[in-house]
Amino acid sequence: MGNSSPSEVFLMRSNSCGELSSKDIASNVQLCGWVDRCRDHGGVIFIDLRDSSGTVQITVDPDEGSKLFNTAENLRNETVIQVKGQVRGRPQEAVNQKLATGEIEILAKDLNILNEIKGNLPFSISIHDDDEYVKEEIRLRHRYLDLRREKMHKNIKLRHKVVKTARDFLEGENYTEIETPILTRSTPEGARDYLVPSRVCGGEWFALPQSPQLFKQLLMVGGIERYYQIARCFRDEDLRSDRQPEFTQLDMEMSFMPQEQILAMNEKLIAEIWKQVKNIELKLPFPRMSWHEAMNKYGTDRPDTRYGMELIEVNNLMKNIGFKVFSGAIAAGGSVKCITVPNGNNAISNVRIKPGGDVFTEAQKAGAGGLAFIRVREENEIDTIGAIKDNLSKDQRAELLKLTNAKAGDLILFGAGKTSIVNKALDRVRQYLARDLKLISKENDQWNFLWVVDFPMFEINPDENRLEALHHPFCAPNNEDIGNNPDQWHKTLPTSRAQAYDLVLNGLELGGGSIRIHNPGLQKKVLETIGLTSEQANEQFGFLLEALGMGAPPHGGIAFGLDRIVMLLSGEDSIRETMAFPKTQQARCLMTEAPGTATSKQLKELHVESTWKASE
Ligand code: AMO
Repeated sequence: MGNSSPSEVFLMRSNSCGELSSKDIASNVQLCGWVDRCRDHGGVIFIDLRDSSGTVQITVDPDEGSKLFNTAENLRNETVIQVKGQVRGRPQEAVNQKLATGEIEILAKDLNILNEIKGNLPFSISIHDDDEYVKEEIRLRHRYLDLRREKMHKNIKLRHKVVKTARDFLEGENYTEIETPILTRSTPEGARDYLVPSRVCGGEWFALPQSPQLFKQLLMVGGIERYYQIARCFRDEDLRSDRQPEFTQLDMEMSFMPQEQILAMNEKLIAEIWKQVKNIELKLPFPRMSWHEAMNKYGTDRPDTRYGMELIEVNNLMKNIGFKVFSGAIAAGGSVKCITVPNGNNAISNVRIKPGGDVFTEAQKAGAGGLAFIRVREENEIDTIGAIKDNLSKDQRAELLKLTNAKAGDLILFGAGKTSIVNKALDRVRQYLARDLKLISKENDQWNFLWVVDFPMFEINPDENRLEALHHPFCAPNNEDIGNNPDQWHKTLPTSRAQAYDLVLNGLELGGGSIRIHNPGLQKKVLETIGLTSEQANEQFGFLLEALGMGAPPHGGIAFGLDRIVMLLSGEDSIRETMAFPKTQQARCLMTEAPGTATSKQLKELHVESTWKASE
């Protein structure tokens, strides 16, 4: 290499492909990378050479020697090569605007094959085919190739940028990064545990952490004050596009920091990530909404506030109109709620709302028996068809229009029954129609952050008819709700609000946290409230209860789903697109074929016997 200093002679490459520009014209360079594609243009061969930084065009001229030319002629895509050559400007008409290095090319002087391709590639990796659809199963089986594709490559780098920004921010705020154990005891976050049998302690099991929750609290007792971790969590739960069995939290815990300060600091952290990754200035503070308001208005604790169609409760108006489905639901302690679909009168036919229709099916999937509806055909003119026909007087019609703010051309959809089912059904229909009617456009980037606060401490588990913690049983109750008298806690706790908060973005839960209980007596009461006996509480959480009695500072924290943050920032629909090696809906890794079987020798050593039968 012409201009290289003696120390550079031994390097495999002098530059990265993507960094070269017209500033480098006339430099001698040595590059390494993958053949993205090769084209023979009337005796001159063009190779697009790609590495992690980008792609550059290599020109192989027969005048540079027949050996070089023959090698270039037989190159297959994705061959790993090393090229020595000189940077030169492209003629004006040959400038490629789409390529960052499009003003230049490298005139090859030597070409070295570092690794050849064996067999057939399962799909094209070329930057020119990045939009090409490849079945996810095939991509996951050959994830190492998929990662080489531009889109995945970008997502993984974006993920790194998010982590780096968070690290820089938190370290600037004096947070210490600490790793917590992976082989541990069950950490209750509401999912099933992944268990690991102990060989040494026969008959006993480790659980993989569902989150570092208890350890981070114990770090506060350990005097750390500000902790963070890019923490791997494991949850054996039904998988969806935003859920993986193994995922990553950006996890934090802090001492002596009240809720307001925690929210403010986390808003700044999120704003910094959006600024660094997207160059978007988010408006702070983020809006807040109580859990009750969210459930009433949106039927969910993670409302998408990018569009209207809020839920409106119409019990008072509907209880006496003589329509049995409505009056029955109200009499049984349930609700009648509705949403107003803008311009829904034309957009949504009766067929779609009646049994078998798509809108009906959405409601049905959420457990509802069906949807009643009213069409507002002209200004102030309600046309009640179907079951509610003639049930509403003129005044009641006017009242309904006032309550729903419905205009001519709108459609009002009603759900009636158990409030939780009505909420679920109308939430589902609302989201479905927002997509169907294109009320949300991906282009005009809307980032509707929302803090949902004041969650209840507990909810009823209907299967077991007992209270369970809405978040986890370490959230502190609202001080006003429980009062100062510990003798009354058994009465005040069950209906108390928690000092808990979730960050929601465009209808997706990005993160959640709470102020924790630091009083061991109160912690015991909460564990009792969810049905643990004193023995069970000590058996499972004795170490925590003991630690809380040894100088635990007031503390609180939060954890964000890193994969979800990256999913939204990269505009993807699934967190699988944000992870290097994700698992399928069946929690399998198609590449390594994990999980796999264990030999009987291994099982014996672990004191485990399988009861699995192939027919199960
Ligand atoms: P939580 O259970 O709400 O809280 O989890 C925090 C965030 O983690 C993300 N998340 C997931 N992401 C991908 N796949 C999953 N299976 C999955 N489950 C959760 C979500 C969620 O908001 N220890 C508490 C936090 C705390 O109180 O500090 C906890 O784990 O984005």
